Amino acid sequence: MCGIVGAIAPRDVTPILIEGLRRLEYRGYDSTGVALVDGNGQLALRRAVGKVARLEEKLTAAPCSGAIGIAHSRWATHGGVTEANAHPHVSGGRIAVIHNGIIENYEPLRAELLERGYVFQSETDTEVIAHLIHDCAKTAGDLTRAVQQAVARLTGAYAIVVFDAQVPDRIVVARIASPLVIGLGEGENFVASDVQALLPETRRFIFLEEGDVADIRRDTVEIFNQQGEAVTRPEHVSSLSADAVERGEYAHYMLKEIYEQPRAIADTLSERIVGDHVLEAAFGPKAATILPQVMQVHIVACGTSYHAGLVARYYLEQGARIPCTVEVASEYRYRNPVVSPNTLFLAISQSGETADTLAALREAKKLGYVATAAICNVPESSLVREADLSLMTRAGPEVGVASTKAFTTQLAALSLLGLAVAQRRGIDRRITALYARQIRSLPEMVEHTLKLDAQIKVWAEQFADKHHALFLGRGPSYPIALEGALKLKEISYIHAEAYPAGELKHGPLALVDDDMPVIAVAPNDRLLEKLKSNLQEVRARGARLFVFADPNTGFEPGDGIEIMTMPDHIEPLQSPLLYTIPLQLLAYHVAVLRGTDVDQPRNLAKSVTVE
Ligand code: F6R
Repeated sequence: MCGIVGAIAPRDVTPILIEGLRRLEYRGYDSTGVALVDGNGQLALRRAVGKVARLEEKLTAAPCSGAIGIAHSRWATHGGVTEANAHPHVSGGRIAVIHNGIIENYEPLRAELLERGYVFQSETDTEVIAHLIHDCAKTAGDLTRAVQQAVARLTGAYAIVVFDAQVPDRIVVARIASPLVIGLGEGENFVASDVQALLPETRRFIFLEEGDVADIRRDTVEIFNQQGEAVTRPEHVSSLSADAVERGEYAHYMLKEIYEQPRAIADTLSERIVGDHVLEAAFGPKAATILPQVMQVHIVACGTSYHAGLVARYYLEQGARIPCTVEVASEYRYRNPVVSPNTLFLAISQSGETADTLAALREAKKLGYVATAAICNVPESSLVREADLSLMTRAGPEVGVASTKAFTTQLAALSLLGLAVAQRRGIDRRITALYARQIRSLPEMVEHTLKLDAQIKVWAEQFADKHHALFLGRGPSYPIALEGALKLKEISYIHAEAYPAGELKHGPLALVDDDMPVIAVAPNDRLLEKLKSNLQEVRARGARLFVFADPNTGFEPGDGIEIMTMPDHIEPLQSPLLYTIPLQLLAYHVAVLRGTDVDQPRNLAKSVTVE
């Protein structure tokens, strides 16, 4: 998704901008650009299609520098992937603008501006903003006022960053529904769409709120709310380290993040289970009054986070004996749902900025839920700031576009929620104590499971030339099959589907032949025998079976069937999380063999901040 960096300093800001873009690469993008006011007071613009390295080549071929500048990585929405559509967009050779989000009323504004004589160089909605600010600046007499007047006419979602080369003493920014953070330095200040971009420069951040406009100069930051009143927003000191996003010895971020899972899960559980008890305070100060009222949970999320929600349904229904429903956010927000009394609305998101999930939370707040809650990996995110309760997954920054450690830490956090609700519901203490012990041993069990890596790498060779794959599971293993299929399709581009194994004979069995590898998730649970019968149906159609199974499940390797034995003593509560690990590794190795861009798969973005 698009990335923003801006800086105003008593030094050349070009290296700060390029490093910031590099640190935002993980969000996914297709073109980049930078605009500076150079030593002669001229606006210098460089843009390139492709990676940040292409922009660097352009800067080497035609160097420029300046003490005020803005830079952007674009993920195309309006208009194709071309240099002309890359940001920054410029009006009148003086106003430079970068923008994340979508302007919904850009067509009438464009028509109006064309009539007023503005010439458009791109197909983007962003160029409308540049000309509109330019137009307002002619009468406003001040860039901040011009931006306030211009944004008042915009509908949609935006984070925008602007400078005027004729008055190069400030950067003006504005946001609605797209994140924007100001980084505070000594005699210099910065702005970005994500703290990651600025960590080498500062740890001190101000998060702008909905509708805020800020005037950022070298020594001052002035913030105005949507009504134009001067306001102060709190300063936060980030605990993230600048090197948390380095890849180290690993070939890809995804592999590094897969191997970080024992640590990430341990951090997520740390200080939250004491003895056999979950500390409710981990969900926030209001948890003690809200949790006793919860009789039902409705979970909303997207993609991988949605799969975590599907597993959580088992934690809440089987473990805590309360009803739980799960839904994708893009459907929920337009459904006009009927809310049962005492229902908790729970949003799950790695980034906390996913547009559909955030919109669903905002919708839910109007609908009479007992409270809203977020399970999220980014403490400063909009989702966390807006939900009543929150539990942070402590996965650390996830750079690979395909979610790995974010998913397993979500499962760990959701198992804590299940246990907290079970405690409140008065479930037998011996049972909740058993759950607590099983949850606590997850990091160690993940460590054991990672040892399957070498065997999985060998299996991967049998997938590299395939066009399709089918994943099967039952009960809580079905969402894990869904997650395995999503991982494989998004990074290897092999078409993969997941089905609850009992559904096979209702249609998908027609697809099965000797060219369709079938991957089964087979923990030793009460559905094992049912799953075995389903797999017989698949074998009978000539498919090659790859079964991940507990020891002592009775599967025998043979002609057309391969077995990967998981570590000993996996309990049902643990199996969704543990069976995820080999499926992540399988997708990873298949993608490497196929030579795809593992960390930044085509057409995908890390943080989907547009609808
Ligand atoms: C897949 C993946 C996506 C995200 C989805 C939601 O590997 O990462 O499906 O899970 O875009 O993102 P968050 O969790 O940030 O709301």
